[in-house]
Amino acid sequence: MSNRQTVVYRKDYKAPNHDVETINLVFDLIPDRTIVTSTMHVVPREGRESDEFELNGESLQLVSIKINGQPSLTNQYAMNAGKLIFHSIKEPTDIEIVTRINPKANLELSGLYLSNNNFITQCEAEGFRRITYFPNRPDVLAKYTVTLHAPKECKVLLSNGNLVDQGVLPDGRKYAIWHDPFPKPSYLFALVAGNFTVNEDKIELNNDKTALLQIYTEPGNENKTVHAMDCLKKAIRWDEVRYGLTLDLERFMIVATNDFNMGAMENKGLNIFNAKYVLADDGVATDSDYAAIESVIGHEYFHNWTGDRVTCRDWFQLSLKEGLTVFREQEFASDMLGSESAKVVKRIKDVRALRTAQFPEDSGPMAHPIRPDSYSEINNFYTMTVYEKGAEVVRMYQTMFGKEGFKKGLAEYLRRYDGSAATCDDFRTAMAEANDADLSQFALWYSQAGTPRVSVKTQWDESKKTFTITTRQSNRTLPGQPKPQPLMIPLAVGVLNDKGEDIPLQLEGEPLPVGTTRVLLLNQDVQTWTLVNVDRRPLLSLGRGFSAPVICDMDLTRDQLVFLAKNDSDLFNRAEAFEKLSILAIDAFIQELRKTQNANSLSPMEAYLATFEEILNDERLSPAYRAEILKLPSEQAIYESQIIIEPALIRAACQAMQKKIGQRLKTSFEDKVKTCTTEGIYKYDPDLAGKRALKFLSLSYLVASGNPKGVQQTRNFFEKGNNITDKLGALSIAVHSGLPIRQEMLNKSSIAWATEPLLINKWLEVQALATSVHGEMPVVNKIRSLMMDPLFSIKNPNNVYSLLRTFFAKGGPEFHTLDGSGYQLWIETVLNIDSFNPQVSARLARTLENWRRYEPRLSSMMYKALRYVSQQKNLSADLREIVDKAIN
Ligand code: ARG
Ligand code: ZN
Repeated sequence: MSNRQTVVYRKDYKAPNHDVETINLVFDLIPDRTIVTSTMHVVPREGRESDEFELNGESLQLVSIKINGQPSLTNQYAMNAGKLIFHSIKEPTDIEIVTRINPKANLELSGLYLSNNNFITQCEAEGFRRITYFPNRPDVLAKYTVTLHAPKECKVLLSNGNLVDQGVLPDGRKYAIWHDPFPKPSYLFALVAGNFTVNEDKIELNNDKTALLQIYTEPGNENKTVHAMDCLKKAIRWDEVRYGLTLDLERFMIVATNDFNMGAMENKGLNIFNAKYVLADDGVATDSDYAAIESVIGHEYFHNWTGDRVTCRDWFQLSLKEGLTVFREQEFASDMLGSESAKVVKRIKDVRALRTAQFPEDSGPMAHPIRPDSYSEINNFYTMTVYEKGAEVVRMYQTMFGKEGFKKGLAEYLRRYDGSAATCDDFRTAMAEANDADLSQFALWYSQAGTPRVSVKTQWDESKKTFTITTRQSNRTLPGQPKPQPLMIPLAVGVLNDKGEDIPLQLEGEPLPVGTTRVLLLNQDVQTWTLVNVDRRPLLSLGRGFSAPVICDMDLTRDQLVFLAKNDSDLFNRAEAFEKLSILAIDAFIQELRKTQNANSLSPMEAYLATFEEILNDERLSPAYRAEILKLPSEQAIYESQIIIEPALIRAACQAMQKKIGQRLKTSFEDKVKTCTTEGIYKYDPDLAGKRALKFLSLSYLVASGNPKGVQQTRNFFEKGNNITDKLGALSIAVHSGLPIRQEMLNKSSIAWATEPLLINKWLEVQALATSVHGEMPVVNKIRSLMMDPLFSIKNPNNVYSLLRTFFAKGGPEFHTLDGSGYQLWIETVLNIDSFNPQVSARLARTLENWRRYEPRLSSMMYKALRYVSQQKNLSADLREIVDKAIN
């Protein structure tokens, strides 16, 4: 286990002294004592600082070293703090290093480990050093040849690139030799060995070559890869059509495993996936899972160009590949959705995730720029900021230059840096030069943390027919950072007249209007734009499509919000306006509860309910869109709107409001449950998924209002549903609403789902979101007893995320109990997991980092829990960084 506590700074970057041109790896795969023989051809770099050749190593047993075929002398190298340093490599040199490792004891799931007795690797970010000594940094690119020796029961032996040879060794074991023609950093190395079945297909590429596509899964899952294969083919085609980027390999492989710390990994030619992002059929995957699989398959495939062909110079540049690839993934997923209203639902969901998870990160103790300046453990920086805010920053180039301009910039970037390791500045410069633009100010997006605020004021001069828009940016000052500077912000706006129509936008000095949505490019603290020929009362529609990752403040009255929610031609902004209205309504319930502890007398204002009803019944809007916008804002979204977070009050307000809405719109909801019930065999399709979403949304309001028919229907969807979306949708409603039938449903599903790891995770997650019922066991205790259930394993990251992370992050008042029992569970599990898997314990621990924002009774206990953990000795570097930043 790594206990390094050193902080690494971006400013300290130094180029390596040596290149490794080729590496030949031979693995003798034995679960508890694998022998790795690495032979590197090491070449000194021109202009190097010294002749020292530095390699990293962790949890390795060194067996032997040879230099140019001769056993090395101990004065030729030194071992020190995880580093192996050869003192003087002045000439091209062959170095052979033999190490011994123990995959079976590797519970960190970093490096080479076992999953259900199969060998699997995960090398990003620094897992390769747990396999062999190597300059384990992304700017050392080598060509790999890999030989695998394995017991004869091992059916499948895989590594990156092309299969050169395979067969049986004289002693009866099996072997395979792989060669990857593309130079790559060590974090993209992968090997897989074990018992798998494969689903194969072929695809014709636009260069007239044919590529073999393979998806490997554990036996029994062969019929669950149809969707993933379809997504892979769509992704390959999309990258050809949209960006002219072709698959550069003869063979592209995906392997699914149940033991994985993160989502998936883009190893060159051999992607390794968390099984939940591969396997799908009507019995294990919900509509949302189908959509997530499409996104993640796309994401990892797109890395082949943005990540693998051009990689990152150092880990501070992580967003170079991740922000860009998330953006590409989002564009792909959106293009796969037929209608405009389906596309906008995807955008609404992505922005909601950004606001409820990235915004709090960016205002809390872990706030960092998308290109961080320092870290103590890089695995802690695979964050919403680097990924999702990074993607928004990339999207702004497209907003400024259009799709064609963006494509030109991307092509220029790939042309300049193909086969090498680049920086975020390199990307920005390529974009700027391809589009003849000055993007020096745009660089601030990479160096400034915090969510910028833009407050906007408008003024209509009826006699002059002018409409002025004044913007004022403000960026939060963060400790240890220079005073924030104004950013370059593309702000898309439209203007509605009093009939709710978009008006043509003509800026002062322009001969003619230019469109009805325009991008204002902010670049100073305060700026003013004047629109002319505005002859009817105007209303600004601000930040259309979420054109920049900022918080826009504009004082809008309830009436104006209602007007926008009903009329804005920008469907994204309609959803925005409605969400603001919902928050206002919930706020009223919160105030009422604070006064009287009983919100039953209150009802949301008429205009809100009328708008709700109008949208619910507006057949011109897709069911998916209606389902998304009429969902109450998540509790996390409400937390973001509050100065002090009071989980119990917020939950009570939501419940009271849901109940009122359910009572009031009963007939419409009943109608939706009927008309949105999809008949026949299950098929994943965004339109049908939208209907199912609207059906369950309606059902949840009905059940919240105590409607007996709704309860009966919930039971029916669970019993009779022919797909997991229906069954799980019903189960979640029952458990979250604490219905009496819930225990029976949970028992039935634990029996029916016991052999499917993916379903066990769902079963755990549903229970993490449970609501306590008076007189029964509190949810915290229920979670404790689930941890003892044979279906739960604390060693499995998916189980931990589903049960514990969900509970800590979204359990609301069930987790934030006044007796501190939730925090006690947090302490115990975080410390327990840290003793074997620091990446997972650190991710779990982040659920308390925003403790300062909670009501005092809770925040003092949250602080104590963090401090207690931070006082323990032997914490991993990962967990140490999280808890220390949280309390200091
Ligand atoms: N590069 C992967 C992806 O986003 C993420 C792998 C991160 N793994 C880790 N242990 N930090 O597709
Ligand atoms: Zn990625």
